[in-house]
Amino acid sequence: MLVGTSHADDAGVYKLTDELAIIQTIDIFTPLVDDPYKFGQIAAANAISDIYAMGGKPLTALNFIGYPKKHLEIETVIEILKGGADKANEAGTVILGGHSIMDPEVKYGLAVTGVVHPEKIITNAGAQPGDKLILTKPIGTGILATAIKFGKASPEVEDMICECMTTLNKIPSVLMQEFGAHACTDITGYGLLGHAHEMAAASSVSIEIQSSKVPLLKDTQEYCIKGNIPGGAYTNKEYLDDKVSFDSSITESEQLVLYDPQTSGGLLISIHRDKAEELLSRLLKEEVQDASIIGEVTAGAAGQMVVRK
Ligand code: CO
Ligand code: CO
Ligand code: CO
Repeated sequence: MLVGTSHADDAGVYKLTDELAIIQTIDIFTPLVDDPYKFGQIAAANAISDIYAMGGKPLTALNFIGYPKKHLEIETVIEILKGGADKANEAGTVILGGHSIMDPEVKYGLAVTGVVHPEKIITNAGAQPGDKLILTKPIGTGILATAIKFGKASPEVEDMICECMTTLNKIPSVLMQEFGAHACTDITGYGLLGHAHEMAAASSVSIEIQSSKVPLLKDTQEYCIKGNIPGGAYTNKEYLDDKVSFDSSITESEQLVLYDPQTSGGLLISIHRDKAEELLSRLLKEEVQDASIIGEVTAGAAGQMVVRK
């Protein structure tokens, strides 16, 4: 075993030969949009992302679906699976099969297997003081999905978050490998600060984030101020309370956005400071249009974070 559960990394890694290791991960969740096809795409992009975060190439996947047979039409189930299959196909991943169970609540996800050279694994434990941190997707899917659920947001907002959540992290993953990234993780349920904390703790470093540089989906701040906040944001805030300090000029809603739980979020990449600008310009050129340098790694206490304006 090369990577197990000890550092809260994105996936497990097991060495087969000197040239080959397999990466395995599983992610399953309940629908956060009404469209079953898009839900399937989001679930697949999210599950496959953990392979990309480790610097791997996703090869195969297994479906898992739970649904109430009496209350859900089979056409809906087929649409969910079709969304998952199309997204897996885009990632070059073959779905080999899967399993379904009866469940009062709809759930879908995939177990994904990828490959990586054993010496080229990118974990969340390699961040070094002086590194720059690049985030590749905007934050806000949790807050905006909550606004949709409360009936406060237009269909355009739903289209925007679906576009964000169905985008594969493939290009940033390939580019970070090319540039020799030191560490990476993808941003999901623990929010930007939660996953940054995991990276800082696993790497025995501190992290400094500049909140004005964090890319946000359009109107995220406004919806947050109006109270469209998922419960997970407060859970994340509570858990991280003694691990992060904020500049006094940062408002409560600006803080909450950084705790917003993401679904199928972007990669947080720790890269040598001399290569950061070039990696960023390559990302922007390859249409990872919201990528931004959002902070840096410092030699402070392990797992601690400072957020500046
Ligand atoms: Co992950
Ligand atoms: Co995961
Ligand atoms: Co990782």
